Parts: sequence; C-alpha cells; structure tokens
Amino acid sequence: MAKIKTSYFCQNCGAQSAKWIGKCPACGEWNTYVEEVVQREEVTPTSVWKVGSSSAQVANKPKPIADISYQEQQRIITQDQELNRVLGGGIVPGSMVLIGGEPGIGKSTLMLQIALSLSGLRVLYVSGEESEQQIKMRAERLMAQTADAFILTETGTQNIFKQIELVRPQVLIIDSIQTLHSSFIEAGAGSVSQVRECTAELLKFAKESGTPVFLIGHITKEGNLAGPKILEHMVDTVLQFEGDRHMTYRILRTTKNRFGSTSELGIYEMMGSGLREVSNPSEILISQREDAFSGISIGATLEGNRPLLIEVQSLVSPATYGTPQRTSTGFDGKRLNMLLAVLEKRGGYRLGTQDVFLNIAGGLKVEDPALDLAVCASILSSFEDMPIPSTTCFAAEVGLGGEVRAVNRVENRITEAEKLGFTDIYISKYNKKGVDLSKFSINIHAYGRLEEVFASLF
Ligand code: TYD
Ligand code: MG
Repeated sequence: MAKIKTSYFCQNCGAQSAKWIGKCPACGEWNTYVEEVVQREEVTPTSVWKVGSSSAQVANKPKPIADISYQEQQRIITQDQELNRVLGGGIVPGSMVLIGGEPGIGKSTLMLQIALSLSGLRVLYVSGEESEQQIKMRAERLMAQTADAFILTETGTQNIFKQIELVRPQVLIIDSIQTLHSSFIEAGAGSVSQVRECTAELLKFAKESGTPVFLIGHITKEGNLAGPKILEHMVDTVLQFEGDRHMTYRILRTTKNRFGSTSELGIYEMMGSGLREVSNPSEILISQREDAFSGISIGATLEGNRPLLIEVQSLVSPATYGTPQRTSTGFDGKRLNMLLAVLEKRGGYRLGTQDVFLNIAGGLKVEDPALDLAVCASILSSFEDMPIPSTTCFAAEVGLGGEVRAVNRVENRITEAEKLGFTDIYISKYNKKGVDLSKFSINIHAYGRLEEVFASLF
C-alpha cells in the first residue's frame, strides 16, 4: 500500500508547509493551516489533461519579440452585451474566467443563461451542485433560446474530461470549482489542494484546446473568493457578481482581466424569468418623482468607462439621544464623516447635533469621489429643508478645505447628464481648463468653493 503523504496548506493563501504552523509566513494569518492528503493515487493517468503528464517537454528559447508571429484571436461575441463589456469585448478563446459571488446572487442563473444564448456553439455546463432536473427547470424559467447546450452532473475531473472528449464543447462552464474532485489528490472537494489541482487541470485543458472555460467560485463570509488566492492568480479573468439579494439589481464587476480593462461594469436586473441586461442604468437609478423633495440630489459618476447618474438621498434630523447616528448605505462611512466635518468647519453648519442617514438609491456601492458634491448638496438640502430641482446634478470632489475639486473625464459626465434631460450641472471651475464646454447646451455652473455652490443653489 502506498504511504499516505500529507502536507499542510494555508486556507487563506494556499501556502504549503511540511508541518503545522500557527501563523502563516506568507500571508500573516493565524490558525489557517489544515492538513490535507496529497498522495497521488498509484493509477496510471488516463486523462490527457493531467497536470505535469510526461508529454515531451520542448525547451523554449528566447526569441526577439518582433519575430513572434501573432494573430488577433477571434473573440466569441455573446448576445449578452454586459458580459461582452466586462470581458473586454467578448470571450477570448482558451481563456479561463472565474465568477465569484455570494450564494443565491445568481451565478448559476447567469451562466446557464449564457450557455443557452450561445447559439451555434456547443456548450457543456457541468454542475456539481444541482441535478439535471433542477437545471432543466431553471432553463424552462429562463425562456432562452435552446441551443447546443449539454448538461453534465459530475464532480470528478477525470470523468469530466472523458465526457469533454465525447462532446467536444466549444465553451465549458463549471458550477462550481469547489465541488470538483480530482482523483490524483486525496484531499476532500473544496480543500486548497483540490481546488488548485482541479483548476490546474482545467487550465491545461483550456490552453491546449483553445476552449474558453468559465468557473463559478464561492465566496467566503468576508467576501473573498473561497479557496486560495492562487485561484485568482491562475485564471485570466476574475469577475465579481454582487448586489443586495433583496434588491433586484446585480452588478458584474471585473477585478482582474488579462484581456481588457478592470474598470468595467455590467448591470443586470433579476426578473422572474432570469437576468435582464440593463443597458441604460441611469434611468432606473434615478427614482421617478413629480415634486422635488428635500434631501435628494443626483451625482454624475463614472463606473469604469460608463457614466452613471446616481441618486443620493439623505435625511438629517436632530439627534434625540446622546451621540448622533451616522448611517450610510452604498457610500463609504468614513468619507461621509469627513464631508460632514468639512460642512461643519468650513460652512458653519451645525451638523454635530444631527442624525445623518445617507443612502445611494438602487443598492449600488459607489467609490467615485465625484459623488462628494452631490452628497454635500443632499445633506444640506435635507438640513435646510430646501429641495434641489430634479433637473440639477453634480460632479465634483470636495477637499478638506471646502474646495470643489476637478474630476476625471468631466465631458463624459456632462454628456450623459445632457442626454438624460438634466438642465443644470455643478462642476469644479478647475475642470474648465482644456475642456470645450461651449458645445453643451446644459447650464454648466463651475465653482471653486462649496459656499459658492450653495449660494448659487439655495
Ligand atoms: P442562483 O443562480 O442559483 O444563485 P447562485 O448560483 O449564485 O447561488 O439563483 C439565485 C436566485 O435567483 C434564487 O434565489 C432565485 C432567483 N431567481 C429569480 O429571481 N428568477 C429566475 O428566473 C431564476 C432562475 C432565479
Ligand atoms: Mg449556484
């Protein structure tokens, strides 16, 4: 009998150690080492994709870069414009894409929908989580076009590769990488060494056959992709599927992409019949209202290359008990405190005794500093109980001295605001340099200080 060989793996970063250690020297986390069996089975490997199989290794020699022949690879353009966008313009042949997200956010729905919409391509959807009947039931709900989509419920990689040879898929989808199991490793499914081995086998398959592979990955409580960070290093593209499960909007964000920009964003709406692409997000992110209420303002932000007009709502009311509350949803709480301090110190508004609640409509999380001015305007509008006209929007950062600072790509923001029928936009006067503002018909108010903005606004 073969001697069982084990090793210890950090469950956080995937580092390996021969013996147990309390603190991981690689990532600094405590108590993350777990023993896993790594003894490879003494069977002759049948799979062609086994990692490190003895295919004659050709020694590579350095070549001048000019001599390397290169052909632009034909990307697969899907019907899903949002997915094409986040991937940087379609699916790259032989690429490996990891999609992470909380349970129930809609990862399986998204991938099945894509599998069904890739008409003319043979797609193999391997599920280790659901039965064939469950997948069929979901496919019925999606009402997508039926295509050459094959479903396989299997978790062993060796059998998956056997089926791949029979089906010869042009796109492979794995739901999920944590359920896969390779018989070359004895550790349980979902353990660091299993996840790493299965990903390596699939990666080899993807690169050698030129088949794009999508992996669905679970995320941990802290919001990281479960399993080792190595997983993220191995794949070409990492997409995060996020959103509030109680809200209908879902955001697909690129966090790593070897074939495109990482600042791209796709927006979907979860409907009874699957995910619908939201091609004009600004329209849904701004609530429809007849009269102007106090405390509401619109910020012209950019997510990736996409201008988004986002509604900021705030409620400022006198604190009844001791320490005033500061609550913000979708906006950084520390930044909110900073802006409140600026308003207090530079504007003389007595906000220290007020409860402040801030909310970004639509369940979005916004990090664009250009939202600062809209946040300040919304807080002040609620504090003074003076509504801001619903056709006014803002795009500027606010500095600690109360100065209104320039933001990047202001022209895109103004164009989007104009397109959506806004009549006035407030920007920083420092944004006027080098930008031809005369081509816009929207009223552009450019100021250098917060007081000037408020004097003009209220
Ligand atoms: P699912 O794709 O299984 O999530 P994940 O794979 O990320 O765990 O499904 C997510 C949720 O979406 C589920 O709670 C039900 C809902 N849903 C709809 O609202 N409409 C639909 O058409 C489908 C298929 C699911
Ligand atoms: Mg799922």
